[in-house]
Amino acid sequence: MAKRGFFISFEGGEGGGKSTQIKRLKTVLRRNRVPFLVTLEPGGTRIGRKIRELLLNPKNKNLSNRAELYLYEADRAQHVEEVIRPALEAGKVVITDRYADSSSVYQGICRGLGVGWTEKLNDFATQYLYPDLVIVLDVPESVGLSRVRNRLQSDPKLRGKRRVVKLDRLERERSSFHRKVRKGFIALSKKHSERIKLIDATQSPDNVSQQILALIQKRWGKRLR
Ligand code: TYD
Repeated sequence: MAKRGFFISFEGGEGGGKSTQIKRLKTVLRRNRVPFLVTLEPGGTRIGRKIRELLLNPKNKNLSNRAELYLYEADRAQHVEEVIRPALEAGKVVITDRYADSSSVYQGICRGLGVGWTEKLNDFATQYLYPDLVIVLDVPESVGLSRVRNRLQSDPKLRGKRRVVKLDRLERERSSFHRKVRKGFIALSKKHSERIKLIDATQSPDNVSQQILALIQKRWGKRLR
């Protein structure tokens, strides 16, 4: 059956505000009585949650880069068949927190496997099902990391000296990685400028939401109030 809904993915590095913006978009869609489905990668299905556990468990430090890519793709293949394609065929707006472009940036660019390979595997895993619109929430890594730090420090469970020391180490270890992630999304948005749109997410959440809505309306051809 032909695809009838509208497919949006949210992408970007840490602290770009994906969750906040997805929440706001849900409110708008509800107000407009648009049927929608919100999902995520990795872990959008029961099988995917098992794959997510393998991918994110710190015990699996020695997971090879290629195996890592295949696991993300396995999660995606299951996600497309079981969740995304049926929802689109039912006419829903599908919003996913991360999708194929994350593999190109994290595995293809940051891990150095090459975007040539990630795109081939994405084609295979998704059977060429790509979002109508990819929204990259772009923030400099320093802003993203300090947002994450603030979020953690305002969490009462995580407050305390030991946590702060730990977090500083984490930040030091990962800031070059975050810089690469950001650059990767910028490069990819230039390569696929017809579907990938970058939004400056250092702006206020209201401004960011307005820009997201404008992009959706333009691309989808439907008015939202
Ligand atoms: P998650 O806790 O969902 O992070 P976030 O809030 O940043 O989306 O963890 C997902 C992690 O997996 C995130 O660090 C990005 C990474 N990832 C890849 O490396 N490749 C992929 O294809 C996908 C979908 C995610």
